[in-house]
Order: sequence, then structure tokens, then C-alpha cells
Amino acid sequence: MPTITLVRGDITRQHADAIVNAANSSLLGGGGVDGAIHRRGGPAILKECRRLRAGHLGKGLPTGRAVATTAGDLDARWVIHTVGPVHRTTEDRSGLLASCYREALRVADELGARDVAFPAISTGVYRWPLDDAARIAVETVRGADTSVEEVRFVLFDDRAHEAFAAQAAR
Ligand code: APR
Repeated sequence: MPTITLVRGDITRQHADAIVNAANSSLLGGGGVDGAIHRRGGPAILKECRRLRAGHLGKGLPTGRAVATTAGDLDARWVIHTVGPVHRTTEDRSGLLASCYREALRVADELGARDVAFPAISTGVYRWPLDDAARIAVETVRGADTSVEEVRFVLFDDRAHEAFAAQAAR
């Protein structure tokens, strides 16, 4: 089981083997973490995303799945892009959010990544309530069968940091 650490800060300034992006299915960028990663990571990331779209991910990356690209100018070897579910009150999509963490760790294992930095997937534009997202994230990482040694949750504000700290303390 990986060690879980929490950091309050900007994920694009982290040093890690892999940095996870809260992407959308297009893989062609966006706002939030996605925007920050492409801005600081530079065009090499988007170039590889475009190649994926031209290849086996022609229809885009499905929700809950993960795929790796170069990390470009980021202080990491890879970016692992994953697409979180948009929160719905009409259906329970928790399994898809858990899948983001599980699939990102599976890709990290394929790459041989030892430390992986995660944002709080789906808790921004996709409006997932922080406490529930933190619960799903921590429970999924704790239950994952992975060789990753450190999972670092990088939280962008105090509310997110407190939500994850409460779950990690359980
Ligand atoms: N570092 C760490 N965390 C960040 C950063 C950053 N630089 N920027 C934003 N966050 C936090 C947000 O505060 C939120 O808690 O990441 C969490 C996820 O927010 P989003 O980036 O909005 O991601 P998500 O909710 O999964 O929505 C994905 O938003 O940016 C678009 O292209 C993206 O369509 C996709 C959607």
C-alpha cells in the first residue's frame, strides 16, 4: 500500500515521477489543473495528446480511464491524464471516480513510477463535493494493489487540504 502524503500547493510545481492531470475526454486541454499542466508543461504534452487522439483514442479518453504522456517541462517524467466524472445527484458515479485513481496507479505501475502526485479529481469544474471525493480518493489508494511507493495529494486550497487530511487521518 503506498504511503499517502498531503501537500498544499500547485501540482505543476511538484517533483514526482508522475503528475496526474484532471483532464477531460478530449485530452486537448481546459482550465483548472488541466490548463495549469499544459501551460507549465509546454506544447510537448499537447502534441502527444493529439497523437493519442489521432491513434487508439480517436473518440477521446473515456471517463474513469487513464493514459500517460511526456511531462514536457514539468519536474516529472510523465503526466498521467485521467477523466473524472461530473458529479450527479441523480446517479451514483462514485465507481468512475474511484476508477480514475485505480487506473492512474495501474498506468503508473506500467511506467515504473514510484511517486505519483494527484490533484483532487472532479472537485472543481466537475463539482464533486470535496469530502466525498477525498473519501473515495483515500479509500481507493489504500485499497490499490500497486507498486507505487508514495501517493501525494496536492491540494490547491485549505478546504481541500482539510477534507483530505480528515480522510487520511481515519
Ligand atoms: N494544482 C493543484 N490543484 C489544482 C490546481 C493546481 N494548479 N488548479 C486547480 N486545482 C484544484 C481545484 O481547486 C480542484 O480542487 O484541482 C481540483 C480539480 O479541479 P479541476 O481542475 O476543475 O478539475 P475537475 O473538477 O476534475 O474538472 C475537469 O475541468 O479544467 C477542466 O479540462 C478540464 O474539462 C476538465 C474539467
